[in-house]
Amino acid sequence: MADVAMGQEAGFLSLARELSALMARKEYGRIDVVRDESAVLRFYLVRQWASTASAQLCHADPEMQSVTARLNEIARVTHLVNGVTGREAFQFAERRAYTKADRRLGLDRRVKDVGRPEGDRRSHTDRRVGPRRLREQPGDVDLVAAARRARENAEARFSNFKVGAALQAADGSVISGCNIENATYGLTICAERVAMFKALSDGHRAFTRIVIVADTETLTPPCGACRQVLWEFGGNLEIVLANLKADKSKHMLKNLLPLPFDARLLT
Ligand code: THU
Repeated sequence: MADVAMGQEAGFLSLARELSALMARKEYGRIDVVRDESAVLRFYLVRQWASTASAQLCHADPEMQSVTARLNEIARVTHLVNGVTGREAFQFAERRAYTKADRRLGLDRRVKDVGRPEGDRRSHTDRRVGPRRLREQPGDVDLVAAARRARENAEARFSNFKVGAALQAADGSVISGCNIENATYGLTICAERVAMFKALSDGHRAFTRIVIVADTETLTPPCGACRQVLWEFGGNLEIVLANLKADKSKHMLKNLLPLPFDARLLT
């Protein structure tokens, strides 16, 4: 995943073409360049290797390394691994992040024919929004629990309205946040923005979803300011709202923030 610097789009695309031609000429595999429609100046260089051995040869190839180095000067590159499972994934030792199914790309995202796992009787609260249900991976972290824990740390002495958030990065890590209020009120910051700013500050740049927890009957959605920040840094994130009971609802950010303003308008 490449986040291209402002004004460098043409240069980036030409380097990507150069990389692609090199890969084809040396028969390492191919690269498809995909623009992320929901994130400004974000592209995916989807590499498909001819074989595991050609991937290794390609990584060790000085010509490839030199084009990649030029690309790194104008784009911030985050490595994501898609469609590679099990031990094979770990052969790519230089990968900085490993994600089995990057939701942003929409690859491997939906599990077809999700049968009911044996012994798991779904209750009405477990119904998923959307045409097909998503099943969480068996090893998935419990984001709702993480958001509830974060909520306990809320500094909400003025409103007594505690909120917790748990943001999942594309590499699977979870970054939590709570609201922090201030005697001058206006400096208050919401749980969602705390989580996003913590994540950005730790170097995360790709996100899959965020869970927001408050103690309300009607589930608490993110405020307008948070929608804007989540959109600018997380794109069309999955937003899960939850409370302290079993209620949950799932939304896509683009539906909560239609007609967004973002950096595309500034270019
Ligand atoms: N708040 C959040 O942290 N997230 C939301 O989604 C809604 C509102 C906080 C801000 C403030 O500290 C308190 O809740 C009441 O508005």
